[in-house]
Amino acid sequence: MQFDLSGSKVIDGLGNVGDFFSHRLADHPLLQMDEIRKLVKRIPKNGLFYSAGIKPESAIIGDWHTHPGKHPLDFAIDNMENADAYMYILGPEVDPGFRPLYVELKADLDEFCRRNSYRLTDSRLALFISSPGAIAPHHIDEQHTFIAQIKGSKTMFQWPAGNHELTTAQELEAFFGKVTRKLAIKDGSDRWRKTYEMTPGRGVYIPFAAPHSVTNRNEVSISLSIIFNTEQTRKLQNIYRANHVLRTRFGRSPRVPGESVWRDAMKNNYFRAYDYSRHLMGIPGRAVRKLGRMTGLGKPPVAAGHYRR
Ligand SMILES: [Fe+2]
Repeated sequence: MQFDLSGSKVIDGLGNVGDFFSHRLADHPLLQMDEIRKLVKRIPKNGLFYSAGIKPESAIIGDWHTHPGKHPLDFAIDNMENADAYMYILGPEVDPGFRPLYVELKADLDEFCRRNSYRLTDSRLALFISSPGAIAPHHIDEQHTFIAQIKGSKTMFQWPAGNHELTTAQELEAFFGKVTRKLAIKDGSDRWRKTYEMTPGRGVYIPFAAPHSVTNRNEVSISLSIIFNTEQTRKLQNIYRANHVLRTRFGRSPRVPGESVWRDAMKNNYFRAYDYSRHLMGIPGRAVRKLGRMTGLGKPPVAAGHYRR
């Protein structure tokens, strides 16, 4: 077992506020800088996002792949101490050498879900490597996160999820509708802010859609996350996606999740069916493509991939 997720009622309940956990990954051979340099150079680049040589406070998460900055990737990973770089590998488990670590962490996550009766819908790893002083700007993510600090230290500021003064219904709809990842810091929100000092051996739980930002201290930082959804967070995503359509295309003021059981169920079922059909259409085959045309399921409303934060 690498993650110790026991002993926190907040984590057990996947609550709306964060908490610490502990882990045993700090000395893991695959997570040391030399191994990570090799990984960055060999891994497929479609899952790697980075910026280098950009003032950290001006970095926009999600724009990294289009505005990587002034340094090429190989230079950045070889000079993390002074390259002003921020690197993010989404799904490093596609690498055969990294896969066993995912399997191990997934086993910890499965055990956690079994113990607390959650139905896991998806999970993957995310590896962060960043220069001294790097900043991950204020944002939310579309899944729960267990982030383990491996090397260096950083400060995370976190605000509770599910507070519509901090994240308005319209912001969540635009986020899950894949329009923008920009999120304003609201006046007076300091009273809800909690600070987590992340050091090797410590991990932090970040709830689904909880606003957070991270600032590195004076060393290169390495962190590894396992990010995941449960049936409940998938349902919330689908309700916000439906509300985005209702508000922007039909001019409605949709009910927020939890206000109407039958509406929530209908919105969730619609997007579950939509996603399943999209999945089927991705399977090669004339009959399936024809079925897709017959059912009128066209392209998604926005392009896939990273969108602006
Ligand atoms: Fe995040």
